[in-house]
Amino acid sequence: MANQEDIFKKVISHAKEYGYIFQSSEIYDGLSAVYDYGQNGIELKNNIREYWWRAMVQLNDNIVGIDAAIFMHPTTWKASGHVDAFNDPLIDNKDSKKRYRADVLVEDHVAKIEAKIDKEVAKAAKRFGDAFNRQEFLSTNTRVLGYRQKADGILKRLGKSLEKEDLADVKALIEELGIACPLSGSKNWTDVKQFNLMFGTKLGSTAESAMDLYLRPETAQGIFVNFLNVQKTGRMKIPFGIAQTGKAFRNEIVARQFIFRMREFEQMEMQYFIKPGTQKEWYEAWKEKRMKWHLSLGMGEDNYRFHDHEKLAHYADAAADIEFKFPFGFKELEGIHSRTDFDLANHEKYSSKKLQYFDPEENKSYVPYVLETSIGLDRMFLAVFSNALQEEQLANNTTRTVLKLPAVLAPNKAAVLPLVKKDGLPKIAQKMVDDLKWHFNVAYDEKDAVGRRYRRQDAVGTPFCITVDHQTLEDETVTVRHRDSMQQERVAIAEVKGVIEKAVAIKEWLKGV
Ligand code: GAP
Repeated sequence: MANQEDIFKKVISHAKEYGYIFQSSEIYDGLSAVYDYGQNGIELKNNIREYWWRAMVQLNDNIVGIDAAIFMHPTTWKASGHVDAFNDPLIDNKDSKKRYRADVLVEDHVAKIEAKIDKEVAKAAKRFGDAFNRQEFLSTNTRVLGYRQKADGILKRLGKSLEKEDLADVKALIEELGIACPLSGSKNWTDVKQFNLMFGTKLGSTAESAMDLYLRPETAQGIFVNFLNVQKTGRMKIPFGIAQTGKAFRNEIVARQFIFRMREFEQMEMQYFIKPGTQKEWYEAWKEKRMKWHLSLGMGEDNYRFHDHEKLAHYADAAADIEFKFPFGFKELEGIHSRTDFDLANHEKYSSKKLQYFDPEENKSYVPYVLETSIGLDRMFLAVFSNALQEEQLANNTTRTVLKLPAVLAPNKAAVLPLVKKDGLPKIAQKMVDDLKWHFNVAYDEKDAVGRRYRRQDAVGTPFCITVDHQTLEDETVTVRHRDSMQQERVAIAEVKGVIEKAVAIKEWLKGV
């Protein structure tokens, strides 16, 4: 596969071809930045959600889950700051009439500078071979350092101007960098304006009695308004956490890059309630803990990096992203935010209800501080899926398309294939499916030559193919083929479940977290 754009196109078409992701209401030509998950997509998505939930809720004694409603009292969003401050800075190109997020235009410009760094690294790695030390090269090569300094300088200035709401400077930056409209090449820009991202709707049957509501733009507020309910009924002691997964909605302006930025998406969020003054240590601890969770999936250490925020959201006193190397470059996958007492204190103010915790050790009540971890489920899906999709050159000069999903997340853990459709082999294969399906998802496939069936399962990401052949009739063994290595081994039918279970058990994957 040639360049990043081609790889990304291939990711999108593969996701459709193999029943992972479809455009929403495709028969009506789709709806921009809204997607549906197909028969395999929903399985992968559920598995990612479960992998997160188990690591968060089941493995931490002091974290519990909730499921709050999407609709919330409208004052919630006044208190949370979203009505006043949940804005994107927009800029229009006067010639193409296209609207862009001003910060994204600048970030895309920076990404081009960073791509130059990647190019230098690739060139040097080729030149020095085994002796190449990436870290040393990055910290000493003058050309790379120049690019780095330039990129950092731009991001710093952008962060500062956004923080000060100095939109005139954001426009000035775009002009100074010579950024042109990606569509028309024109540099004829309007001023930068703020635009609120929340979707509004109405509750009530008559126009007079209807109440203006918002579709929640983050799941976090459902946790904050339930903080005391959970603390009291669960007799929780600080520090403790509340986790939630669920849909969130944002009227994104730059809705592109497939499921990376959607208008309807799902978040997996955890709010950790802590003693004021301890936020720095919990911030560091959760950064490390979350990175370990990502690394446990084995998708390559080099594909992750932290990015500390210059521009802080309206609620945070420190924030970092875990960025992942998507086919279009390093981008935010998860946010870790030190939210102080911003949310709870504001909900106290707007609701006139006390949202305090009595700390028996301190013998006093206080509004807890909050450390948040927030990851987009769809974005995690894209990270996993795009990283897994590979085109491999095989020894016999052919290629295969293989989706090397972490086995723990794969939609089907195994496919059972009778070698031929006769001699009683389908019956044995069906019986195996009937036994195995109580433990994990298993597919059955008897159509086409076995080699083609292997390729089909490779492309859909099934970690194991189990072939029932004539030898099975004699000794009750089957061939187990491993997706990634394509190695085959002979295994007794009675032992197949154990082999697969060991490879796909969440416990095995999460052990080190
Ligand atoms: N409660 C904090 C919060 O919502 P955020 O950084 O705005 O913080 C958290 O969002 C995560 O949600 C992001 O890191 C990203 O993974 C995901 N996310 C945000 N907007 C998204 C969108 N439009 N489409 C898909 N995922 C999105």
